[in-house]
Parts: sequence; structure tokens; C-alpha cells
Amino acid sequence: MEKNIKVQMRHLGKTDILVTPIGLGVMELAGGGGLIGRMFPVIPQDEKNAIIKAALDGGINWFDTAEMYGAGVSEQSLATGLKAAGKSDRDVVIATKWQPFLRTAGNIPHSIENRLHFLDGFSIGNYMVHQPYSFSSPEAEMNAMADLVEAGKIRSVGVSNFNPARMRRAHAALAKRGIPLAVNQVRYSLLNREIETNGVLNMARDLGVTIIAYTPVARGLLTGKYHKDPGLLDSMSGWRKASMQRNLERTRPLINAMDEIAANYKTTIAQVALNWLINFNGEIVVTIPGATRVRQAEESAGAMKFLLSGDEMARLDDESHRL
Ligand SMILES: NC(=O)c1ccc[n+]([C@@H]2O[C@H](COP(=O)([O-])OP(=O)(O)OC[C@H]3O[C@@H](n4cnc5c(N)ncnc54)[C@H](OP(=O)(O)O)[C@@H]3O)[C@@H](O)[C@H]2O)c1
Repeated sequence: MEKNIKVQMRHLGKTDILVTPIGLGVMELAGGGGLIGRMFPVIPQDEKNAIIKAALDGGINWFDTAEMYGAGVSEQSLATGLKAAGKSDRDVVIATKWQPFLRTAGNIPHSIENRLHFLDGFSIGNYMVHQPYSFSSPEAEMNAMADLVEAGKIRSVGVSNFNPARMRRAHAALAKRGIPLAVNQVRYSLLNREIETNGVLNMARDLGVTIIAYTPVARGLLTGKYHKDPGLLDSMSGWRKASMQRNLERTRPLINAMDEIAANYKTTIAQVALNWLINFNGEIVVTIPGATRVRQAEESAGAMKFLLSGDEMARLDDESHRL
């Protein structure tokens, strides 16, 4: 492992937008708003500000939010936190998403005004279609997105949870308007490697699209904290607790290998998980860990500042495939 490396920015697809390999996911700041907001505790704005500042202080230059994350709660919390940290629009990149479920592409020009309202002066570096389920075709969605680029309301276009065929259609529709498809945001981690075999990663390589990996620490499972202290699961309920319990023993060999690597270099297991993710496939994957505490945002930022060796990455690859 190499330590204290200089963080190299990466382009979002074929755009000129530069981001750090790790951004901060701020779905966790949606507590109290809408359906998703019910899944998260309400974090006081002062604490949200501190989490955002910790990410910025650690060198992170971008943030991932969405309409679905509390219908504006996450976006507004982010804008407030950035302002509290003394940041202005030119200092950061914000990615947000349109919610397509039970809607048509005709909603895109209306919904964008709410996004800009909640982002309160911060611009949209990338605007994604959040998932493939809508009443419109990807072509209609991409045309509406291209209109937003041309109107100067967003800087680039992305998709999320799109399969390879739908990625290709989105890419082709945008290409007709002279606009690149910048990103596909999908679930990817050492515990979920589906994109390596379902064609998404290969399609991203072919089209020059950046993969934004979400749920990169498997909601805490890949940090080893539940393996080390299963009592932490007592405060959870429902499907999340059941899924964590089910996966604890199955994943222990991988966590043990990560723990060994982390101990050798005085990093944490979470940082090893994130470092593997942003380096195993070259520069094509960036990631957006969420945080509900300052310490987590600090750790996430710190995960960009070292480089696992080829042998270490191969060992984790192997352990993860064995699960
Ligand atoms: N496009 C999509 O469909 C989609 C879907 C899901 C998420 N996302 C995006 O991806 C982001 C991240 O995904 P995610 O929140 O699902 O999963 P994640 O990043 O794997 O998990 C975040 C959670 O893991 C725990 N954690 C994070 N860093 C930690 C550390 N260093 N040590 C210990 N625990 C740590 C925290 O849980 P505790 O609060 O329990 O401590 C935190 O809330 C979201 O914020 C959102 O922006 C997108």
C-alpha cells in the first residue's frame, strides 16, 4: 500500500466536470422528509453542517442527493451545510436525481425548478434519472434532460440503476443532441459485484460512462463494526436488522482479510472497502458513501489518500468471490 498519495480528480464520463474519487452521499440527511425520510433519523442541521464540513475538509469536492431523498430535505440540508462551510457554487459539484416513478418525461421541466429552489443557489453538475421505471421511454427522458443542458439548468446528464440496453439507448438519444451520457449510478461494492457480470461495467467502459457506486460499505456491514460488536444490531429493526444478521457470519472471512490489511497500514476496514472500489477497475468507478456522523465522513475522505497494492486488491477480489 502506498500512503499519503495526492488525490487525482476524475472526469464524469466524457464531460469536463472533475470530481474526487470519493464524494459524499447525502440520502442520510433526508430524515423526516417523505418516504425515504422515514428510514433515517432526523439529524439536527448543526450536525449535518459538521458532516458536510468534515467531508470538505477531507478534500471531497462533490455530493450526491436526489428528489426522492425527502422531496427537497436532503438537497436543502446540503445547500445549508455548504453555505455554513463558506462554500459557493464554484467550489463544489452537486449530483441530484429526478424521480421518474409514475411520471412521464413531461415532468422533468417542472421538477427541475424545485431542485434548483432547494439547492438554493448551487448548480446541478449532474442530473440523473433515478431509476428505469417511468411512463416514458429513455429517449423521451434524455431529450428532456438535453433541453435542460441547453437551457443552462444542468451541466451534464446521468442515469441510475439502468441496465446495459437502457444505458445504450440513453447514450444514443443524448448523442443525437451532442451530449455525452456522463454516469450510471448503481449498487457496487465488495459485497455486491453484479455490475461486473450483468454487462453494466463493460457497457460503461464501451461508452465512456463513469460508474458511481452506491451503498459502497453495504450500509455499515463492510466496515466490520457489526462483526466486532454484534450488539450494535440490537438497536435496528425490520429488514435491515434481518439482512445484517443473515450476512454477518457469511462475510466474516472477507472482513478478517480487510481487517489485516487495515491494521498493517493504520487505516480502517471501511477505508479499505472504499479504496478497493475506487481503484480495482482503474478510474471508471467513483463512489459516494453516506454518513450520519462526522467521523464517518472523515474516514470516507481519508480513503482517497492511499493506494492498496495490486496484491492486496487481488486478495480482496478473491475473498469476495469466495463468499
Ligand atoms: N441511486 C440509487 O438508487 C441509490 C440507492 C441508495 C443510495 N444511493 C446513494 O448512495 C449513498 C450511499 O449509499 P447508502 O447510504 O445506501 O450506503 P453506504 O454508504 O454503504 O452506507 C452508509 C451508512 O454506513 C455507515 N457508515 C458509513 N461510513 C462508515 C464508517 N466509516 N464507519 C462505520 N459506519 C459507517 C453509516 O451507517 P449508520 O448510520 O448506521 O452508522 C452510514 O449511514 C446515499 O447517500 C445516496 O446518495 C443511491
